[in-house]
Amino acid sequence: MQLISILATTNNGIIGINNKEKHQYTIPWKISSDMKHFKSISENNILIMGSTTYESLPAIFFKDTSRKIIVLTGNRYRTSDKKNIFIGHSKDHAMKIAYNLSYNNTKKVIICGGKEIYELFLPNIHQWIVSHINTTINSHTHDLRANDELINVKNILSHIKNNSLKITKIKSYKANKQNEYDFDIISYEL
Ligand SMILES: NC(=O)c1ccc[n+]([C@@H]2O[C@H](COP(=O)([O-])OP(=O)(O)OC[C@H]3O[C@@H](n4cnc5c(N)ncnc54)[C@H](OP(=O)(O)O)[C@@H]3O)[C@@H](O)[C@H]2O)c1
Repeated sequence: MQLISILATTNNGIIGINNKEKHQYTIPWKISSDMKHFKSISENNILIMGSTTYESLPAIFFKDTSRKIIVLTGNRYRTSDKKNIFIGHSKDHAMKIAYNLSYNNTKKVIICGGKEIYELFLPNIHQWIVSHINTTINSHTHDLRANDELINVKNILSHIKNNSLKITKIKSYKANKQNEYDFDIISYEL
């Protein structure tokens, strides 16, 4: 089973913000075209994500029930009563669920974060689809609140770049009213 991963990052490897006090996780940009890109890739396919990312998603995300979502958690007692949401208790368990849902590979299996989950599946990913957002976010450039922690995936980006993958530019976007920053979508494939 081939795994695809989708990720959006700033030039300095930031993928999200964690407000430790409020236990609030967010993505620090508003880019409507990237949301559409995510939607079109994920429709009708199988997503694997960490429980933190799952909890951070807005209600609108769950309107499209064509996606099957496997939520990874170490919580043995967690279950799901929704038809399209499945609970994985380990990497192997999540892979087994994905395999059973993939109908002989007719559906894509997409690893969609966050940081812990990208790291967990790093050796198994066949293709990375990365939105490179042309900005740098750090504690000086961004309006961070007290207890905000930036979530950084620099190690993952260097892994991708050091692995001589086949690089294909999929599309470039300019900043406008709907897209806060310029960004390029690039595929890195084995
Ligand atoms: N820019 C992007 O493309 C993008 C994409 C996705 C997410 N994000 C951002 O990334 C941030 C979240 O990332 P994160 O690294 O903090 O959290 P995460 O990877 O979404 O989830 C971590 C959770 O996954 C579960 N988990 C991890 N390894 C596991 C294993 N081996 N077996 C079973 N369960 C396992 C644990 O859940 P339990 O605690 O329940 O045990 C753990 O707390 C958010 O800010 C989000 O907005 C950004």
